[in-house]
Amino acid sequence: MAAVATSEARRAELVELFNTVSSCTACSLSETRTKVVFGSGNADAELMFVGEAPGFHEDQQGLPFVGAAGKLLESLLGEIGLSREDVFIGNVLKCRPPGNRDPQADEIEACQSHLFRQIELIQPRVVATLGNFATKLLSGSPTGITRVHGCEQSVRLGNSEVLLYPIYHPAAALYTRAMLSVLEEDFARLPQLLGREPAPTTSETAPVVPVATPVATEYETQLDLF
Ligand code: URA
Repeated sequence: MAAVATSEARRAELVELFNTVSSCTACSLSETRTKVVFGSGNADAELMFVGEAPGFHEDQQGLPFVGAAGKLLESLLGEIGLSREDVFIGNVLKCRPPGNRDPQADEIEACQSHLFRQIELIQPRVVATLGNFATKLLSGSPTGITRVHGCEQSVRLGNSEVLLYPIYHPAAALYTRAMLSVLEEDFARLPQLLGREPAPTTSETAPVVPVATPVATEYETQLDLF
């Protein structure tokens, strides 16, 4: 499919895609989900995050990363001078696997075209993959996150050439302090990868403290495009 030129046209197509994905029945997760979690954020984002799959709260609200891992993601973004409104946040799977189990190969296969189309329409410069599932899918390589985190690579996804930047999933960093430091270090490189001024060094900024508390309530719609 040809690249869609203007921002307005890409936004309109993203809304159309949202409508299509909202009624998707391509895999059996459609039978157990409460809401489809399309993704949310800036339709013209230079930076896109791709997580694994919606959890309990995301499934209830229809929005990505609204639980504890999302709070940490927001804190990390704040550390580099960005907010949710600046980025687009999506997932490999748009529907919650029951009991938050791992995504299955057939579910990823059924869902991946939605993600590839989102990337084509948003045209981010950098796609940060959070954890193993997003990293393996978008790199096309079975190499795990422990080996490739923090190592950017240029990849062609559909019609888009993007810088793929694998980093640890914030949920993993919530439970392992050492992983949090690595995640902070990897995050600190994002401004440079985006071609901006580097973020202040960590010694000048307060540490990111994971907040294992509730759920953002400020996001009320399922699309939430800025
Ligand atoms: N973890 C994910 O991978 N995605 C979400 O949306 C929430 C938690």
